[in-house]
Amino acid sequence: MTDDLREIVRVDAIVKDFRPGLGLRAKRVLHGVSFAVREGEIYGFVGPNGAGKTTTLKILMGLIRPTSGNATILDCDVTETGFRQHIGFLPENPYFYPFLTGRETLRFYARLSGVDARDITRSADALIELVGLENSCDERMSTYSKGMLQRIGIAQALIHNPQVVFLDEPMSGLDPIGRKDIRDIILRLKQERKTVFMNTHILNDVEMICDRVAIIVKGRIRHEGAIQDFLAKDEMRSDIVLAALAPEEARLLGEKFSARVQTVGEQVEVQVRDGQVRDFLQSALESHAEVLSVTPNRVSLENIFLEAVEQGERADSSRGPKGEERSC
Ligand SMILES: Nc1ncnc2c1ncn2[C@@H]1O[C@H](COP(=O)(O)OP(=O)(O)O)[C@@H](O)[C@H]1O
Ligand SMILES: [Mg+2]
Repeated sequence: MTDDLREIVRVDAIVKDFRPGLGLRAKRVLHGVSFAVREGEIYGFVGPNGAGKTTTLKILMGLIRPTSGNATILDCDVTETGFRQHIGFLPENPYFYPFLTGRETLRFYARLSGVDARDITRSADALIELVGLENSCDERMSTYSKGMLQRIGIAQALIHNPQVVFLDEPMSGLDPIGRKDIRDIILRLKQERKTVFMNTHILNDVEMICDRVAIIVKGRIRHEGAIQDFLAKDEMRSDIVLAALAPEEARLLGEKFSARVQTVGEQVEVQVRDGQVRDFLQSALESHAEVLSVTPNRVSLENIFLEAVEQGERADSSRGPKGEERSC
């Protein structure tokens, strides 16, 4: 049923090269990124720092052009302007005039976004309430904490009642309470049937609120899908703890079973996929390892994320030091 929902954002084979300076080689930061965001969902675009999340979002916002590929929002090419009244945007590091109060800031953005003069007060008040700034909306922005600035940032993205909201790292730098508040605000947007696209590197938040995710590592999408598919597959992994195993033997075992291997003091911890446990244990015993414990666990988003990052690192090193570069 979800598959029938309208695609609100579509990104097709986007490549982005940055040229660091005249005559220097271009650096490819997006390598054919594709994904789609459907109506009414909270979409998490997840990846470590430097993965290309902000670059992708800047392309969607029409702030920079892709080297190749294309992207549409609400069926319009992102280089067009007509659809922009229907989208809201919270940049990664928004700048606000420090001498304006929170309320004045929202009124300023309302005018900028073409909100009807008769609706400005009502819209600003409703958003002040939504983001919980009733007690500080008449103080200057220069006195605001990071959490308060983030709330005003979200409020300005919503001031013209857009259909789709793009948020770049909305929870970063916030304490757990601040993060929960922002999560609740995003969930309220979903209740209001808005579509939310969110860049983030905080997996916990993604697990809690996102309907679908894409994991991007070094400019490539490594996984994409419904969060339920990631979490409810009930795929099991077993954490196996071994002793009396030489580091080289541990590495070879890890390679043979494509398993994550971690050495902790004298012990080796290995994560083995369901179905491979028996063969793995047999190989470990043949290598004269001592088996200390076997603990089955459900696969979490964190496992998938860490594996994707490791995969990205491996692919990168096999491409060599110039792997990310391309001559123009
Ligand atoms: N204007 C730019 N010129 C050159 N390189 C850039 C530019 N903007 C971003 N990059 C590089 O692109 C990569 C992806 O950056 P970014 O999209 O900001 O990552 P993320 O938001 O996932 O942390 C990084 O290696 C960054 O240094
Ligand atoms: Mg970023």
